[in-house]
Amino acid sequence: MAEDLEKIRQEIERLRREIERHNYLYYVKSEPEISDAEYDALLARLKELEEKYPQFYDPNSPTQRVGAPPAEEFRAVEHPVPLLSLDKVNSPEEFDEFVNRALRMLGDVSPEQLDFTATPKLDGLSVRLRYENGALVLGATRGDGFRGEDVTANVRTIRNLPHYLLSEEAARLPVVEFRGEVIFHKDDFERLNAELAARGEKTFVNARNGAAGSLRQLDPNITAQRPLKVYVYEVLLAEGKEFESHWEMLEFIESAGLPVVPYRKYCRTKDDVHRYFEWASENRDSLPFEVDGVVIKINRVEYQRRLGEVSHHPRWAVAWKFPSQEAVTTLLDVEWSVGRTGAVTPVAILEPVFVGGATISRATLHNEDEIARLGIKIGDRVVVKRAGDVIPEVVRPLTELRTGDEKDIVPPEHCPVCGAKLSRPPGEVIRRCPNRFCPAQVAESIKHFVSRKAFDIEGLGDKQIETLLKNNLISDAADLFSLKPEQLVKLERWGEKLATKIVNNIQNAKKIPLERFLFALGIPGVGEHLAQVLTEHFAKVVAEEKKGGKFKIDGERWSNSDIFERLRRATFDELVAINEIGPATAQSIIDFFADEHNQRFLKKLFAAGVEIVEPAVESEGEKPLEGLTFVFTGELDSMTRAEAQELVRKLGGRAASSVSRKTDYVVVGKNPGSKYTKAQQLGVKIINEEEFLRMVGLKK
Ligand code: IVH
Repeated sequence: MAEDLEKIRQEIERLRREIERHNYLYYVKSEPEISDAEYDALLARLKELEEKYPQFYDPNSPTQRVGAPPAEEFRAVEHPVPLLSLDKVNSPEEFDEFVNRALRMLGDVSPEQLDFTATPKLDGLSVRLRYENGALVLGATRGDGFRGEDVTANVRTIRNLPHYLLSEEAARLPVVEFRGEVIFHKDDFERLNAELAARGEKTFVNARNGAAGSLRQLDPNITAQRPLKVYVYEVLLAEGKEFESHWEMLEFIESAGLPVVPYRKYCRTKDDVHRYFEWASENRDSLPFEVDGVVIKINRVEYQRRLGEVSHHPRWAVAWKFPSQEAVTTLLDVEWSVGRTGAVTPVAILEPVFVGGATISRATLHNEDEIARLGIKIGDRVVVKRAGDVIPEVVRPLTELRTGDEKDIVPPEHCPVCGAKLSRPPGEVIRRCPNRFCPAQVAESIKHFVSRKAFDIEGLGDKQIETLLKNNLISDAADLFSLKPEQLVKLERWGEKLATKIVNNIQNAKKIPLERFLFALGIPGVGEHLAQVLTEHFAKVVAEEKKGGKFKIDGERWSNSDIFERLRRATFDELVAINEIGPATAQSIIDFFADEHNQRFLKKLFAAGVEIVEPAVESEGEKPLEGLTFVFTGELDSMTRAEAQELVRKLGGRAASSVSRKTDYVVVGKNPGSKYTKAQQLGVKIINEEEFLRMVGLKK
């Protein structure tokens, strides 16, 4: 009997290690070896044995990742080594000063001898992780650096954190402690907030607060449902192990099977650090998690020891911060702006403030419901955010700073530009100006018409279009095509050269592929993507109908203008039957083409010489990707994702937006998203950018 039990114990142990290894392959390496079904089978067997033999309970068992029973309060824990903070620098000069100070203190070390490590500074919650004889025994928050809270049960639910160290070398150590950051990936965080909102629960202000709120939950079952991740950046303590450099330490962390902080870089020189900072600043928005700077460490442990630390931070490491993307300013007023479809939206007029590397004085307030949700008033001190190329937005008011003089924001009843009475259909968040000749709508739709993804007419910016309208040289976009240089020269400040150039640009834009043409029309609900979907769909319809003899077969290939004519005649039923097109959009397309004014406008365009043509890059009939479906994830170096999809279509393939068993190839660029994991799970073939370029003949 005892022997049987011993056998069971061994099987349980084996299963635990095996499942843990698959967790690691899946969550840390993103290289699973088995399918979900096989994984589930292993887990089910382990659960069965653990239920039958409760004497073998182990809090580190992979079955325990669902969360332990709630705690009354967190236990306080002393940190054996204090969890220090970091000194900050805000500019290249300040960073150089940090380096020079270190060199001065070290005395006999030359600048050439000093190397560095660089990692992103993750914006989350710092944790200490203790492993004894290879098993996770403690997870604690940083607290004040000396004492934190015991959050072991919660830490155990974090999917990418192994409960056992992987390498023999690490598992042999009696005690090893790590330090890392608990965070949310941006997409996980957005999904979580959407779920919370859908359930009517309170949402988190940002990913950092979300991570803190989720980790410091008394009920680990709740933490288990939050898609937290942890990344490790330091060994705090390793009895019986010496490191010569921080880089070596990071490699040890990785070999131990822990998720080491991603995008780390060894920097041979100070200049390499400058380059790393630039790289991180430029790519900040496309990283999968929030990053508020980079952490630079002097690499050699000997120098670290000699430099030592001051009360709360080491002299051998520094946080080089990005300019803040959030700032506080005053909401001076709200302007209501009229868009090309008549939508009237609120724009915040702000006291100018420097944020995210630029001074802003306007920001979006989205819509009336958003204003109500934020409870914002004119005169409020507000938090504004400017992240990368995203339009600056008002995040929230600081209601605690109110004086009582703030005024409510009152949406207008009449169009601020033409005075027409605004409509707000029940259930809609947006008021609209019903007057299609409203000067604001006309100007905005012409701006849209000439924009980069539409007719792409260079030299015609917002100012120029407003000047043309003001001087009555145009009344709609079709009029652009009959402009003469002489007419433009008469306008202020437009010299002959510039006038000729703009007219040439306009004339050269007349030939346009169908998807761009559709986008340019500005049919409500039809953006860049749906324009593409419609083009593809009706190309197929026309091809089918020609085969079926509904069209005269005259030996000529059907053209894109045939496709447009076909789309124009499409019925509501035909349109809603298309994937991705809902009833509202279908109706909007029908209404657009049924409208007499629009019909006149289209006639005018074609009369002016606008011609719908095949896309510029032709594959000369050769379709090397015929029958193949591609999905792209992550950033490509040589082209945008949209361009790559376009290329696939030109070469006869299909570009899909999500991975399924029918996908033939998933092309993985930098910072791939969940499609990558999905592809691995489904066993879809994964290729990198270079392999893709070779397939399409762009690389040998
Ligand atoms: S190293 C001696 N590396 O930033 C301090 N810290 O402002 C060693 N943090 O409390 C810290 N990402 O929570 C380090 N890649 C990274 C980090 C990082 C985020 C946090 C950490 C620390 C704070 C200091």
